[in-house]
Amino acid sequence: MISLTSQDPARLAVDALVVATGTRDGAVQLLDGDALPADLRAALLRDARTLGLTGTPDEVRRLPATGLAAAVLVLTGVGPVDGLGPETLRRAAGAATRELAGTGSVALALPAERVEDVAAVAEGALLGAYAYTRYRTGDGPETAAPAARVQVVTPRAKDRAATQAVARAEVVAAAVHGTRDLVNTAPNDLYPAAFADLAKAAVKEAGIRGLKVSVLDDKALAAGGYGGLVGVGQGSARGPRLVRVAWAPSRARGTVALVGKGITFDSGGISIKPAAGMEAMKSDMAGAAAVLHTVLAAARLGLPVAVTGWLCLAENMPSGTAQRPSDVLTIRGGKTVEVLNTDAEGRLVMADGLVAAVEESPDAVIDIATLTGAQMVALGNRVSAVMGTDDVRAEVVAAAQDAGEQFWPMPLPADLRAGLKSKVADLANIGDRFGGMLTAGVFLQEFVGSTPWAHLDIAGPAFNERSAYGYTPVGGTGVGVRTLLRLLEQRA
Ligand code: BES
Ligand code: MN
Ligand code: ZN
Repeated sequence: MISLTSQDPARLAVDALVVATGTRDGAVQLLDGDALPADLRAALLRDARTLGLTGTPDEVRRLPATGLAAAVLVLTGVGPVDGLGPETLRRAAGAATRELAGTGSVALALPAERVEDVAAVAEGALLGAYAYTRYRTGDGPETAAPAARVQVVTPRAKDRAATQAVARAEVVAAAVHGTRDLVNTAPNDLYPAAFADLAKAAVKEAGIRGLKVSVLDDKALAAGGYGGLVGVGQGSARGPRLVRVAWAPSRARGTVALVGKGITFDSGGISIKPAAGMEAMKSDMAGAAAVLHTVLAAARLGLPVAVTGWLCLAENMPSGTAQRPSDVLTIRGGKTVEVLNTDAEGRLVMADGLVAAVEESPDAVIDIATLTGAQMVALGNRVSAVMGTDDVRAEVVAAAQDAGEQFWPMPLPADLRAGLKSKVADLANIGDRFGGMLTAGVFLQEFVGSTPWAHLDIAGPAFNERSAYGYTPVGGTGVGVRTLLRLLEQRA
């Protein structure tokens, strides 16, 4: 639960009061707006060095709440205080709530005067208040519950725009948390049919008019000519699914289709991956998870844009029924693909999903996928890539910038198409070794025709294998949801 308050932070009887620290000209600053008692303020600034305070991002410190109604004072760093933007506040708020798991009530008195900043603090606080405990049976620190009551201190507490921003932040955070939960779920529990059932249950539970879901099972996929999903899924005892989840408001300003890669586990198939690190491939469905929760959130926010999500679900396994390198598949719509590497499976299921999406003539189609290791080589673990037609690519970059996610524009060089030539089929599923992310994009381009399109490769950013930072936990991050939602809002 989150709310706004304009009360004096020093008088808030909460379990933790959070105040920002920052830096200017190498000196630590306290961004409390003079809300802390003067002696406490003076002592903190005087002893900053001996306390080891630097004011840099991800520095979260608990101190005695001398003279405060709160039980503990928490300082969270924002870094350079000049030109403080919403994303910096979002991260500082999230770092604090993340560190405060197990604390009942938290108030954040960060600099939040503009509505945009109130929204960022609220969103960051909620994004940081996340824990995935499904498989933990003990009651140690790993099971500590995220702060249940969060208050954001702002002079705008009664401002309608600010309270609406908080309501939106709750929907956004729920969508990001839902995406993270799916990514974190073990693949023995989350297989294609289970994912499809969860999508159906979520739509039913939302109970929103205009929100609908339908599922094609393996038989229906074979009958419908979805050769990519069938080919990738045939090695698993758990068959593939294609989920269509659609939000259709009564007066829609256009239609956007979202297509998500949903490989519930990517072993590589017959072109099997090395054992080391394979466990991270439970996250290969992060695109589909982001699509599902973006559509649900669009419906919850009542956005006046029609959104159709396509979840391309399959498990990529080696077995006696698995597809082989040299198999030829026919994608929905008739194009043939020679499978030269069964580990380049994402583009096969996405091809079917893109064709299905484009058949309904949306104004634009956006796909999101943990598609290539090459994405990480190019941009690392925190920056996603976006390729596609110039207009939609620019739209995604702008939406990401606004939402506080990092999506960097990348090209689709026409010459890479030659590398995808097959000796027997219309195209092969692998091409040149260098520029592997772009080659995957060029492959997908074959299936979108003339529909305005963007392709988001989130291979690195979808799953945090290192340590938590800002509002980003270890494991599933929920990347993409905020950008896609912002893009839909900008079209509304
Ligand atoms: N799911 C992987 C891509 C991936 C790798 C995502 C690491 C997240 C972290 C994808 O299916 C894959 O295996 N891609 C291959 C393609 C290659 C065979 C052309 C890759 O990137 O190595
Ligand atoms: Mn793969
Ligand atoms: Zn994959």
